[in-house]
Amino acid sequence: MSIPSLDDLHAIGAAQQPTYADQVERDRAVDTLRKMPPLVFAGECDALRDKMAAVARGEAFLLQGGDCAETLEGVTAENTRNKLRVLLSMAVVLTYAASVPVVKVGRLAGQFAKPRSSDTETREGVTLPAYRGDAVNGFDFTPEARRHDPQRLLDVYHASSATLNLIRAFTTGGYADLRQMHVWNTDFVRNSPVGERYERMGAEIDRALAFMEAIGADPAELHTVDFYSSHEALILEYEHALTRIDSRTQLPYDVSGHFLWIGERTRQLDGAHVELLSRIANPIGVKLGPTSTPDDAIALYEKLNPERIPGKVTFVTRFGADKIRDLLPHLIEKVSAAGVEVAWVTDPMHGNTFATENGYKTRDFDAVIDEVRGFFEVHRALGTWPGGLHVELTGDDVTECVGGGSRLSAADLAHRYETLCDPRLNRAQSLELAFLVAEMLSGR
Ligand code: PEP
Ligand code: CO
Repeated sequence: MSIPSLDDLHAIGAAQQPTYADQVERDRAVDTLRKMPPLVFAGECDALRDKMAAVARGEAFLLQGGDCAETLEGVTAENTRNKLRVLLSMAVVLTYAASVPVVKVGRLAGQFAKPRSSDTETREGVTLPAYRGDAVNGFDFTPEARRHDPQRLLDVYHASSATLNLIRAFTTGGYADLRQMHVWNTDFVRNSPVGERYERMGAEIDRALAFMEAIGADPAELHTVDFYSSHEALILEYEHALTRIDSRTQLPYDVSGHFLWIGERTRQLDGAHVELLSRIANPIGVKLGPTSTPDDAIALYEKLNPERIPGKVTFVTRFGADKIRDLLPHLIEKVSAAGVEVAWVTDPMHGNTFATENGYKTRDFDAVIDEVRGFFEVHRALGTWPGGLHVELTGDDVTECVGGGSRLSAADLAHRYETLCDPRLNRAQSLELAFLVAEMLSGR
C-alpha cells in the first residue's frame, strides 16, 4: 500500500486546514518533521488493533478520554499524571465492577488541533482567525497569536514526545501498579462521596490482592498497564509527515499516535482525511453525528477497511441524549446487516453542548449520563455489544460541566473554567461516570 503525496492529499480537498501564508516556512517544518523519530511503534498499533477487534467481538470495553484540546503550556508532569490517574481509576472501576477487560486509550500526546464551526472570531468589532488549537495558532486574541504558524507542528511533536515519555514511565515504572490505586486518589477520597465509594472498592481489591499474594500468584498484569495514545488526525502536514513505512510489514503507519480518528467535520467520503486514514494500518475511529446515515457509515467502512481487517474501524457516535434512542438502532441494524463488524463507542459529550446565560459553553452531567444510558439500552434491545466510552475529561477539579454529585451550577462555572475548547468532566464527575457505566455494563 502506498500513500499519496501531501500535495495530492491537498488536491483531493481537506476541510478544516490551516492556511499557511509562507510555503517555504511550511515546507521547512514538514521536512524537519519527516526526519523525526516515530512517537509510537507500529507493533504497538497492531496490538491495539487486536484489542479493538476484541471490543468489536464483545469481549472487551474501550475507555478513551482526555482533553478536548491539549495545550503546549499544559504539558506538565502534574497535568499528565492527573489525566493518567483519573483514566486508570476509571479503568479499575470498570474492570472490577463489570469484570470486563478494559482497553485504555488517552486523548493525549497529539490532541492539539481543533476543527471549528467558524473560520473567524469577532470580539468587540475586531475579527481575527479562530483559534484552531495550539498545533495551528495561539489562543490570545491578537493578530500575532492567531497567525497560522507551521513551526507549531514541531512544538506539538516535542510536546507529544515528552507526554508519551512520561506516560510510558508511569505505566511501566510502578505508578500504574494496581497496589497503588489508593495513592492515585488519596488527596480527594476523603471529601467526596464518589471518593469514598472508590476507597471501599479499593479495600475489596486489596483483600483479593492479599489473597493472591498468599497463594504465590503475582501476574505481571498487576504491575503495569497497556496504555495507548490517540488524537483526531486533522492537520495533514503533521499526520502525513509522521506516516512511515514499517520495516517489519512494509505497511504505512501513522506513528504520531496509536489510534487516530476522523472528526465529524472531516469525514467526507471523498475527502483527504478519509483517503489518508484508509491507507494506514493503525486502528482508526470515525465520529458519526446525527446527520450520518447508515449508508454513509457503510460507505465509510468500505473505503476505510476494504480488506475488513478486524479491529481496524471503530464508530464513535455522538448524537446527543435526545436523539440517540431514535437514531442509533437503525444505524446499527443496517451496518450489521451489511456484514460490517465494528466496535461501537459512545461519545456522550459532543451532542450535548450548550451555552449558559452567563456565557459558558458547558454540558450537563445528566445529559451525558442519559446519552450513555440510551447507548446501553439500544445495544441491549438489539443484542449487540456496547463497546466503549469516549469522553472529554481532566484529572483536575475544574468546573466546566454542570451537575454531578457535587451539583455544579451555571454560577459555579466561573470558579475554575480552564478549557480552551470544549468543557470537560472533572475528576469526581469522571469517577461517577465510571461507576454508573460499570453498573450498566454489569447489569446487562
Ligand atoms: C472532538 O472530539 O473534540 C470533536 C471536535 O468531536 P466531533 O468531531 O465529534 O465534533
Ligand atoms: Co471536543
